[in-house]
Amino acid sequence: MTDSSSDAERRIGEAAAFLRGRGFDQPFDCAIVLGTGLGRLVEGLEEAVSVPYADIPHFPRSTVSGHAARLVSGRMADRRVLAFQGRAHYYETGDAAAMRVPIGVVRALGAPPLLLTNAAGSTRPDLRPSSLALITDHINLAGANPLIGDPTDHRFVSMTGAYDERLQGALRHAASAAKVALYEGVYMWFAGPSFETPAEIRMARLLGADLVGMSTVPEVILARYYGLSVAAVSIVTNLAAGVEGASPSHLETKDVAARAADDLIHLVRAFVSRIPHV
Ligand code: HPA
Repeated sequence: MTDSSSDAERRIGEAAAFLRGRGFDQPFDCAIVLGTGLGRLVEGLEEAVSVPYADIPHFPRSTVSGHAARLVSGRMADRRVLAFQGRAHYYETGDAAAMRVPIGVVRALGAPPLLLTNAAGSTRPDLRPSSLALITDHINLAGANPLIGDPTDHRFVSMTGAYDERLQGALRHAASAAKVALYEGVYMWFAGPSFETPAEIRMARLLGADLVGMSTVPEVILARYYGLSVAAVSIVTNLAAGVEGASPSHLETKDVAARAADDLIHLVRAFVSRIPHV
């Protein structure tokens, strides 16, 4: 392993060692990244222990309002859950690998399945705000990749079947058990932080994207790099720019995500209860 990759592994090792010393030392059944407005999910965790990202060596600082920036461990549906309350985005610093240490830590703490959540815009008038959508695949339109600069052959990660079929199946079953409608779609990653133009959204739709957003894709790439099984669910917070005349805003994103969070919490609880114990 050459320098930049072994340096990342050193930082991940230091973060994981710190966390083991803070009570994150038992195996986890599942890890979850909570997107904009979804942090409330951790309120349902029993025996919760939390650490601010700012205290964890080499963790990114999240600068986005609506993200609490804490790592929480606790129990849900009799499973041990590791919850990232807030994420770092490419648009905050220009670093597509901003989530490398957190995702590497998931692997270092036992490599449980990883569920990513986010707020997304919909390119389809029939995929309405407040809906939940399972991400089945993605299109990386940001022109960035968290593995750029990694000098090892591991960087050539296959992205075929990146969204784990078994986890997708578990999420579909969980949705019907929880009586929550779960749509499905392809997610296109835009760098942000400005929202897209209506012309960009027409292009996204033509290219096969149902959902658009500014996160998640680098985390999926990193998860596959680290050999984690990964799945992702969006809360549709708005129709994307120009769809029925929409003009999205961060305020709307936060508000709708917070209101739709109940459905997502039911879905996640039903999903977690289906994961076999470690
Ligand atoms: N575009 C990009 N990111 C988003 C959107 C959107 O419309 N809604 C929530 N996150």
